[in-house]
Amino acid sequence: MKPCFAAVPTVGQSVSPVKDWLTRFQRTSISFSSQHHMALARLLPLLVCGEQSSQWVFYNESRRLQQNPQAVIDFEQIVADEQYHEQALEFVRTQLDEPDDITTLKRRSQHFFAQLAVTESFSEHFAQIACLDSLVCKLMLAIENGSLGKTHPFSLLCRAIKKDEAKHVSMSKRHALELGFCTSHWPQFRQDITQRLYDLLVTEEQAFSDIGVDLKMIFKRGSSAKLSEQVNLAHPVFVTSEVL
Ligand SMILES: [Fe+2]
Ligand SMILES: [Fe+2]
Repeated sequence: MKPCFAAVPTVGQSVSPVKDWLTRFQRTSISFSSQHHMALARLLPLLVCGEQSSQWVFYNESRRLQQNPQAVIDFEQIVADEQYHEQALEFVRTQLDEPDDITTLKRRSQHFFAQLAVTESFSEHFAQIACLDSLVCKLMLAIENGSLGKTHPFSLLCRAIKKDEAKHVSMSKRHALELGFCTSHWPQFRQDITQRLYDLLVTEEQAFSDIGVDLKMIFKRGSSAKLSEQVNLAHPVFVTSEVL
């Protein structure tokens, strides 16, 4: 599969648990039931595209903030985390069949992520990223708790990615506030980005269902507190998007 977005230079050091996952699994063939195989063949391109887009967001910000050495270190570390996420997800994707409509799937996700960058300010952009990564945490948690089973290698990968994304939520949230994001805008932002991500993913509702993930439950209002609690318990570093 051609990438959705061009590769970003490797600049930072990552301590991502996905590195350990790669060490453990990257020479193995991961087995899936045919139902899981077909479902993940549709979902992986969307996830990979998100990881590529995220690298550019944080890479560009690290370049923009060259005068702030700590910010450069932090954002370069996120870029490196996302590169490991991409590498691991792409490794799984290459073991699966390519869907016939892969080009449409890719174009839709490219458009979604490109549109995210169309905001009025950097602060709004990072508030959106915090919200988006928080939704990704929920998705990863739901996959982990889905029909693959908690010990399946792909569930373990989702758990590792979720740990990183929880950290990215905290950092993006803090950055948005430092850039002057007004918290009174948050409910509208959360609603908007949640709806947009749902619109992107809903065409794959059946694929999510096939891996035991109820997409509507994840995006339903009110479900966030319960899911966030579960993530918080497992990973204390997680700061929910609701408290931005
Ligand atoms: Fe990621
Ligand atoms: Fe992220």
